[in-house]
Amino acid sequence: MTGVGIDAIEIRTGKLKLDLAETFAAEMGDAPEKYTKGLGLHASSFPDTYEDIVTMGANAAHRLMERKGLGLDDIGRIDVATESAFDHSKPVSTYIGGCLEQVFEGDLHHANKGERKFACVSGTQSVDDAYNWIEAGRNRGRAALVIATDTALYARDDPGEATQGAGAVAMLIDEDPDLVELSKAQGYGSADETDFLKPQQQFPSVDGKRSVKVYLARMREALVDYERAGGEIHPDDFRLGPFHTPFPGMVRKAAVLAYRHITRDTEIEDELAAEIGRQPRPEGFDDDEAYMDALSEYTDALKETDRYKSWYDRTIDPTLDISRHVGNWYTGSVHVARIAGIKALAEADEDAVGEQLLVGSYGSGAQAEIHVETLQEGWRGEIEALDIDEQLEARYDLTFGEYEEVHDAHNFDEESSVEEFTVPDGEFAFDGWGRMGERKYRYVE
Ligand code: CAA
Repeated sequence: MTGVGIDAIEIRTGKLKLDLAETFAAEMGDAPEKYTKGLGLHASSFPDTYEDIVTMGANAAHRLMERKGLGLDDIGRIDVATESAFDHSKPVSTYIGGCLEQVFEGDLHHANKGERKFACVSGTQSVDDAYNWIEAGRNRGRAALVIATDTALYARDDPGEATQGAGAVAMLIDEDPDLVELSKAQGYGSADETDFLKPQQQFPSVDGKRSVKVYLARMREALVDYERAGGEIHPDDFRLGPFHTPFPGMVRKAAVLAYRHITRDTEIEDELAAEIGRQPRPEGFDDDEAYMDALSEYTDALKETDRYKSWYDRTIDPTLDISRHVGNWYTGSVHVARIAGIKALAEADEDAVGEQLLVGSYGSGAQAEIHVETLQEGWRGEIEALDIDEQLEARYDLTFGEYEEVHDAHNFDEESSVEEFTVPDGEFAFDGWGRMGERKYRYVE
């Protein structure tokens, strides 16, 4: 068997947009730069009233299957990763399967369907499950559809409100993939943490500042663990570093720590020594506090070096290009970062076959996962087939009052009669409730 990886990918944004600098900041009493510079966000995507995790996921999967010329018999597995599920029993993948059966011949009765939960890292875990299923030879020649879909909404006036977003990423996992092959080696950083949770509630309880620290700690553990499995990592080995991006500022914090780690004991540390000294080592200090202070001083200096800045601009910054305009998509976020980075390579007309990506996924609660991906022969065609720029451009720009209405419309505890802002066209749309409280969907021609 040849390698296994992502054969095709599709992305679907919510059809509404909240401009954070222009519309949201003033209402919150904030400077626009808190969003554009501090968090690194310009806008959030929101679902229109007829959109939800099912419609966005099904629309992404539909476009992917049509583009690849697939039928329902080609799909042996549908896994949905989400933090926004509305049912503790019936998985979202059954709804999405039902939608796909409306538009394709045949049925998905012999496809294994499920739903994965571990906050934002579950999108990558679902890719792993599909990979393992294929590697184990249980797929009978069929591919797996992995769909990461979320409406990442926070309670009004929660600090997380600045980082909201909504969208879905559909990925086809198969042998001999066109886009990227996945490494066998993986690294994990996992611990029982209380930073972000939803105990029987729609909107998360978040300890935002702690969540940032936990992200960094778990990501570091995962990097160390990856090196045990996959060998030492050197910055020059990777063309891109797509990381889970709740907001670009988070990745900015993570990137410099990752760079410090992967340049330790390399010629890069030697070359930078004349400018900023060598990296502090614990054995050079009497206590932990002095060591941590020295480490943080070194990191601040490292961040300002030309060497680091050019690595960041080349390897990390391109992965943030879409996130800046859509916000956090939870399970889809690291997959959006991958797309943005590869899209930048296509736009720069790079010959990138064989180039490697260091992919860092993260989920609160908390777990990070690091693995490596290798760009395949068909990468350019796959990325150029995306219509994400057109989708972003077509979004309806909400006023603040409209944003408040849309938030209420998606709040399970609010009665809302707000009308839709856009018109469904060639897509799945929410179509009301069934007799047992299930959701109904229809394909609007
Ligand atoms: N000009 C430039 N920068 C400014 C500024 C201005 N006028 N005003 C503020 N800033 C900067 C701040 O200095 C800060 O940057 P640094 O952290 O680098 O110092 C940044 O803008 C944000 O400002 P605050 O820290 O004051 O913002 P906040 O207190 O309102 O909340 C937050 C920030 C904690 C991230 C909040 O948005 C939050 O709780 N978000 C949800 C949780 C989250 O996303 N956590 C990320 C890790 S967990 C994860 O990744 C899982 C997941 O998907 C949720």
